[in-house]
Amino acid sequence: MKKTVLILAVLAALLAATVGAASANGGPHGGYTPTTDACAGCHRTHTASGARLLIDTSTYSLCMSCHGSAGTGADTNVADGFFLSTRSESTHGTANTADNAPLLGGGFSYYAGAATTSTHDVTNSVTYAWGTGTAGRGEAALLAGGAALNCASCHDPHGSSNYRILRDTVNGIPVAVAQVDEGTTKDYDTEQWGVGTSSFCAACHDAYHQTAVGQGSILDDGSYTHRIDMNWAYGGNVNPETVGLSGSYLPLSQSSTLGLVVCMTCHLPHGTSAQMTGIADGGPLGTGNIPGNTTAIDSALLRLDNRAVCEVCHQK
Ligand code: HEC
Ligand code: HEC
Ligand code: HEC
Ligand code: HEC
Ligand code: HEC
Ligand code: HEC
Repeated sequence: MKKTVLILAVLAALLAATVGAASANGGPHGGYTPTTDACAGCHRTHTASGARLLIDTSTYSLCMSCHGSAGTGADTNVADGFFLSTRSESTHGTANTADNAPLLGGGFSYYAGAATTSTHDVTNSVTYAWGTGTAGRGEAALLAGGAALNCASCHDPHGSSNYRILRDTVNGIPVAVAQVDEGTTKDYDTEQWGVGTSSFCAACHDAYHQTAVGQGSILDDGSYTHRIDMNWAYGGNVNPETVGLSGSYLPLSQSSTLGLVVCMTCHLPHGTSAQMTGIADGGPLGTGNIPGNTTAIDSALLRLDNRAVCEVCHQK
């Protein structure tokens, strides 16, 4: 029985992967016709294996059946963090994305060829997020309705009006993330996000989204925090997108007001393999537990080793 379900799942997955080709959302995600067959790629009406009538036991394993290491339904391998056009029949991104290119979101198990040192845990086991709801920075509180974090907390499998099918409502809060995207052809190794990317993160980490001038010297929520959503220019700063430092660059938001520093300028949304050593491993006064600290085994989703994210901009 289990085996039949699995075979059906794989067949349905392959079918769904080839059918969604015309959708700007990519893959089997949205753009459905009135007689679409796409639903059958992920749902069973009477004999489902998981809640929400899923053909797999959980949202996570359903996503990974196509996007995981052994997935054959999508070229974007989010487990190992790279794109490979020979993984599936999907043509999304193949014209614009180099094989083996690291994915923009990072990876859940590996990124840039190394094991990850921090990830958003999407296995349905965490319900608390830093600075959510009324919690301040450094405090964790329950997500809306006590929901557990999984892939569908951030992405809508049925497509959305946002960049990369990010949900129109995240954690109960409406979000809009502009698509400066390329439409149906896709490009999975060039950042394409526009206005609203920080608001997306803030839907779950509101206390971190502070935007006032001189924010780093304004006490709120019991601590001081780096300003977000401003242009990169300040003091002796260089443009981290074009100047870089020792080959390291940081992406800025692409929007009408170019060059904004957003959450994803410093953080990767899926997972990173950045190394935290020396003072960045716990810190002189640190216990080694986040928040406020990074450690050798918890790099806080930072894009670059230690505090290279600071140096690329400020170049002190
Ligand atoms: C790529 C896989 C996938 C496809 C294709 C898909 N779904 Fe879903 N669907 C899901 C997942 C995963 C959930 C659970 C989301 C969650 O955990 O919040 C879900 C949830 C739902 C829900 C309940 C929650 C909600 O969003 O309203 C409905 C109804 C639904 N799907 C209908 C459909 C229909 C109808 C189709 C075809 C047009 C379809 N789905 C196609 C994966 C899929
Ligand atoms: C049946 C296979 C299949 C399943 C199941 C599936 N996907 Fe996809 N997904 C694809 C394909 C194909 C693409 C197009 C890009 C590619 O080839 O990797 C895609 C693209 C995406 C994209 C990029 C969308 C864009 O705008 O470019 C996201 C995000 C995504 N999937 C998330 C999910 C999540 C979350 C789940 C689980 C709820 C899921 N997928 C389940 C096949 C699948
Ligand atoms: C915390 C929110 C969040 C969670 C949880 C999440 N994603 Fe994403 N994902 C994003 C964001 C943001 C992007 C866009 C990254 C970029 O373009 O810089 C993205 C991008 C993607 C892409 C496009 C390829 C890439 O890496 O850019 C795919 C496919 C995808 N996600 C699938 C998944 C799957 C499958 C899961 C669960 C295993 C998942 N995501 C969990 C936020 C999330
Ligand atoms: C993408 C560029 C960029 C990166 C990366 C960056 N900064 Fe900044 N930083 C700025 C800008 C712009 C300001 C000015 C903010 C304002 O207008 O109030 C600033 C301000 C500051 C200030 C002064 C705050 C105040 O209000 O007095 C400090 C201290 C600082 N940054 C430290 C850091 C540290 C530490 C890191 C690494 C975690 C970092 N920065 C990463 C761009 C950046
Ligand atoms: C300038 C780089 C930079 C930007 C921009 C940035 N962060 Fe961070 N973030 C860090 C660093 C560095 C850490 C590691 C802990 C520390 O040094 O405070 C961190 C840690 C975190 C943590 C882990 C808990 C904690 O407090 O240590 C969360 C959650 C977080 N950031 C969320 C966000 C969100 C949400 C945004 C956007 C609103 C954002 N960050 C923007 C650099 C940044
Ligand atoms: C749907 C809710 C949700 C969204 C959206 C979300 N996060 Fe998180 N985030 C969480 C939860 C829950 C945790 C704690 C569990 C964990 O560590 O995986 C977390 C943890 C973190 C951490 C600490 C990671 C560590 O090493 O423990 C950082 C940093 C972070 N998020 C940054 C971001 C950034 C940047 C974005 C936007 C790209 C974002 N988050 C979007 C729910 C969310």
